[in-house]
Amino acid sequence: MQAGLNLQQAPPIWVPFRFFLSAPLFGLLAAALMLWQGPELFASRWSASTLAATHLITLGFMTMVMAGAMMQMLPVLAGAPVPRPKLVAALVHPLLMLGTLLLAAGFLLAQPLLLQCAVVLLGTGLAVFFGSMLLTLSRVRNPTATIVAMWLASIAFGITIVLGLTLGTSHGWGTPLLSQSLRDLHPAWGLVGWTGLLVAGVAYQIVPMFQMTPNYPRWMTRGLTACAFIVLALWSLAQGATDWSWLRVASVCLLVAAYGVFAAVTLDLQRRRRRRLPDVTLEFWRVGMVALLLAALLWLSRQLPALAFAQSDVLLGVLVIGGAAVSFISGMLYKIMPFLTWFHLQALPASGMRMPNMKAILPEKAQRRQLRLHLASLGLLIAAALWPALFAYPAALSFGAAMVFLMVNLVSIVRVYRACLQRAVQPDHLSGVAEKPVRQ
Ligand code: HEM
Repeated sequence: MQAGLNLQQAPPIWVPFRFFLSAPLFGLLAAALMLWQGPELFASRWSASTLAATHLITLGFMTMVMAGAMMQMLPVLAGAPVPRPKLVAALVHPLLMLGTLLLAAGFLLAQPLLLQCAVVLLGTGLAVFFGSMLLTLSRVRNPTATIVAMWLASIAFGITIVLGLTLGTSHGWGTPLLSQSLRDLHPAWGLVGWTGLLVAGVAYQIVPMFQMTPNYPRWMTRGLTACAFIVLALWSLAQGATDWSWLRVASVCLLVAAYGVFAAVTLDLQRRRRRRLPDVTLEFWRVGMVALLLAALLWLSRQLPALAFAQSDVLLGVLVIGGAAVSFISGMLYKIMPFLTWFHLQALPASGMRMPNMKAILPEKAQRRQLRLHLASLGLLIAAALWPALFAYPAALSFGAAMVFLMVNLVSIVRVYRACLQRAVQPDHLSGVAEKPVRQ
């Protein structure tokens, strides 16, 4: 597992952990909002409550984990440590938390002042994160396919944030938008660019390493993310020009093909994996890949007016955000957090104490229970997107339950880490540690 990893340069464990542990809280807030607003939240993509819930998840859950994971992975995968990681985390994490809360509250209460504060806080925090990622990436000597994807994802992140801040300024200060197409470009760069490119790049490294599959084919790792980035840029150009609809349709077809092939190849690699033991992360990723395939087909079908239907916008959002992104991220958390815990415990000064292995740090049963809840909530969210009046409340409740269980699981990892750390510094308590289960 450690092959090719440069673990000595990893930042202190609390740098990524503070981001990872906050994420389910935002998921839970989004669920509470769904419960409060009911069917209205699923009725339209543009309602205030939909925008608030969307950002609680895209910024509070997804970007939160992705930021922590990048700070952790860049040193480990590329040997390029983030400069002053503790300071960067201490700035980015609270600004992202507070900014996201204010943005959601600003949408919900239609309060320009809240939106103005959100724009300032998010603009500052995310600029610090963006700057430190670019600085770190520019120091990588031999960029692998994963690093190229991280470069492209970071640029897509920068574009998402500039567009998001422009839209936020328009909501907060009432400045007119240069073009209405910015309202489509921002979510596209956030989901297809920032999220999609990072997931693809990380998958190239993580799927073969953790899921014991063959490597991704070279033609894919060499070209897919760059092609997707260029096509997304062409699609953006076409959005602004009314008579370029052929380019818009062609670029949607190409993006659908790129992500469809990525999902199909990943599913095939997982089918051919060498180790047949049950693995919950793999199942989360399978769910994510199937949701990605469905989302790609839905986006394609929307290009034909005959196949368009009223709720397809909301359904697309549910499939991409709740289906693909939340599944990938949850699966990743279940690998990264126990692995980092195990790794940092190994690095403790030798105390004669036997440290728990990854399976003891977070037992598979607990992960599987949460996977089942996640699947139920995904099914109900899809149903709520199609029939809001019937399914909005069950969807909210099940999504909230899945987030609570995710939080419980992540906190239990931290408790194991703390317990081992305490025993390592208090040798009196050494006896019995090897035999005693470390899970509290
Ligand atoms: C500085 C951070 C951000 C700000 C200030 C921001 C602001 C906004 C605003 C004001 C809108 C509403 C646009 C309109 O009125 O048409 C919007 C929509 C949207 N944003 Fe963001 N955003 C930010 C980051 C992100 C990120 C990182 C993502 C994704 C990873 C994202 C995903 C979306 C989506 C999906 C929508 C459309 C929501 C819908 O269709 O219901 N945003 N954003």
